[in-house]
Amino acid sequence: MRTAAFLAALALLVQLSAIPAAARPAAEELINRLGCLSCHSLQGKGGDKAPAWDGVGARRSPEAIRKQIVSPRGRMPSFAQLKPEELQVLVTYLSGLN
Ligand code: HEC
Repeated sequence: MRTAAFLAALALLVQLSAIPAAARPAAEELINRLGCLSCHSLQGKGGDKAPAWDGVGARRSPEAIRKQIVSPRGRMPSFAQLKPEELQVLVTYLSGLN
């Protein structure tokens, strides 16, 4: 019984930690297509018109990241036209950059 509970917890943990990895290829494809890195940078690659994304997941909550993409502050275009699942992929990916 205890082993079963342990295995269930372990399975959940594995699932949770697999989310950012699973979101990565889709997120990178979206980011290229949308041109986010013409302004932002990550690990020294990209533009310098916006804050670097390094550590953004530690600075900003997922909700703040989502809000910035849909109705941005500052000189960033809105990406409100994204499908909900595309938005989710971006938010998951960016929240994982910490
Ligand atoms: C034309 C330039 C430009 C493009 C393209 C752009 N951004 Fe931004 N972004 C900005 C600027 C400028 C800010 C800073 C806004 C502020 O706080 O004044 C920002 C802020 C952000 C932040 C918050 C960063 C932080 O450190 O607080 C996130 C997250 C973000 N952008 C995501 C995206 C995503 C995702 C895309 C592509 C879908 C994108 N941006 C495309 C200019 C841009």
